[in-house]
Amino acid sequence: MGKELIDTIFGNLQGLKSSQVKQLQRLYHQRLPGNELITLDLAQRLGAICTEINQPISVYINRRGQIIRVGVGTPRQTQIPPLELPRYGAERLSGIRCITTDLSLSSPPESSLTAMVLQRLDALVVLNITASGFVKRGGGVTGFVDSAYLAYLLPQKPSTDTVESTSYWEVFGPWPLERVSQENLFDLVENLEAEFSREFIARQVNAEQDRVILVGLQTDQMSDLVFEEGLAELERLVDTAGGIVLDTIRQKRSRPHPQTVIGSGKVDEIALKVQTTGATLVVFDRDLSASQIRNLEIRLGVRAVDRTEVILDIFAQRAQSGAGKLQVELAQLEYMMPRLTGRGRTMSRLGGGIGTRGPGETKLETERRTIQKRITKLQQEVNHLQGHRSRLRNQRQKQSVPSVAIMGYTNAGKSTLINALTNADVYIADQLFATLDPTTRRLSIPDPQNQESHLILLTDTVGFIHELPPSLVDAFRATLEEVTEADVLLQLVDLSHSAWKRQLESVATILENMPISTGPMLIAFNKIDEVTSEALAEAQRCYPSAVFISASKRLGLETLKQHLLRLVVSS
Ligand code: GTP
Repeated sequence: MGKELIDTIFGNLQGLKSSQVKQLQRLYHQRLPGNELITLDLAQRLGAICTEINQPISVYINRRGQIIRVGVGTPRQTQIPPLELPRYGAERLSGIRCITTDLSLSSPPESSLTAMVLQRLDALVVLNITASGFVKRGGGVTGFVDSAYLAYLLPQKPSTDTVESTSYWEVFGPWPLERVSQENLFDLVENLEAEFSREFIARQVNAEQDRVILVGLQTDQMSDLVFEEGLAELERLVDTAGGIVLDTIRQKRSRPHPQTVIGSGKVDEIALKVQTTGATLVVFDRDLSASQIRNLEIRLGVRAVDRTEVILDIFAQRAQSGAGKLQVELAQLEYMMPRLTGRGRTMSRLGGGIGTRGPGETKLETERRTIQKRITKLQQEVNHLQGHRSRLRNQRQKQSVPSVAIMGYTNAGKSTLINALTNADVYIADQLFATLDPTTRRLSIPDPQNQESHLILLTDTVGFIHELPPSLVDAFRATLEEVTEADVLLQLVDLSHSAWKRQLESVATILENMPISTGPMLIAFNKIDEVTSEALAEAQRCYPSAVFISASKRLGLETLKQHLLRLVVSS
């Protein structure tokens, strides 16, 4: 405990006389015997001061019996910010208990109990000030405590369904003060922690994985469908990044709260969820500003990241080639530059996980200027690389082998298709962005008219996603240029996905924003093995010139090849 805190009184000191403040400060000198939850002496002292100032008082005591925090106000008003609490992990309590006074004589209010959960307190003791006291010799009034409530946390069972778990706490009392003071602190916390740790082990799947709470904000302009699809996609992104989604919290607001995106009450609800589920990360479905990150992390006690950071993290984990790594680092640095002030101080100490990985991770703490220099250097390297690729493309063009770029929304089945067509060995996974670096393969298509075979080059490109972070579009321009400079584009659409129409539109929007105009495009609807005949008929009606295939079941591939050949020959 720093010296400067030793006489700080937290909470609302307005209207207190300096003698009263001194009385409160003297509480810091009191020390309790190791295993006593509370002593009668401390209880009466608190009762006396509380009566005198006519306001609740809360004191926080560690397991060595030292008073580490004194505040005027309820546990809620005087609570220790999550970031200042010792971090023992979800299986332990914080090692701090709170003794508070209550003038209302009612059972502890929910706000005090919530504050207990947020701080993972060993216990909360609420002293009832039952008599207005008796007159001391020499004037003044002494408070009198004769009963108290005792509350502590309940371990949360791992939730197997969506039904809200029962209670977060247990409250006993009012008990006579003597009874509360006889409670053995060590027995109490030992038993509790043993239970916590049993539950913790039961739900611990992999300590390496981030345990994530998703937060979605539905603004006025957003339909329920678009909102829910966005959240479902975010869940897949987190899953792809290696996190486990524990829960999703939604809020409707006309627009984002400037300081915390969501409203203050919702932030508390999430903080509570973080504590009770042992979450390590909160992921928002929209971009966060530096100050929003700071405000949220202070109140949540764990890292807060946005959708873009999750995407960047996936790219960081997936980048294979030197060029891919370079581009990811550039994108991460560009994204983080304006946000350095937000995170640097508060969360950097909290270690790895989603949003902290990548080739640039060790540099995040370094000076802004060093980072700026690095960005400039990376940009030069990316430009250099781009030049190199464009020379390669020129060579290909000189050989006059027509090229087809396969593109489409992430997970549409691009890699599966290129493998099916060319027997290439491209990594396939039911995850978003499984492939990052473009792969080019030769494909020979027999021409039924003249018994000849035509050679084309097929390139598998990075998957698209709606609202692709601009820094990524920029960083991956080399890859995306493959798309814009191909002779023919083959857009693959996952027809089995409920949002296929919107995914088609997202890809069209990204293409429209590209500087170079694209060649002719063929749309191929994939995964027809997974759709109903009605859905297939509808797509056929809307896109009569499209091809319908199943890459994994090798359906419609011959038709696809012939369509490609016709386009290539005519382009
Ligand atoms: P990104 O690299 O993320 O852009 O993905 P991608 O478009 O390259 O998709 P990928 O080929 O990795 O396939 C994604 C998932 O869809 C995998 O689980 C494939 O097995 C599956 N898939 C691909 N084609 C078909 C198909 O025709 N039918 C079905 N049912 N599943 C398919």
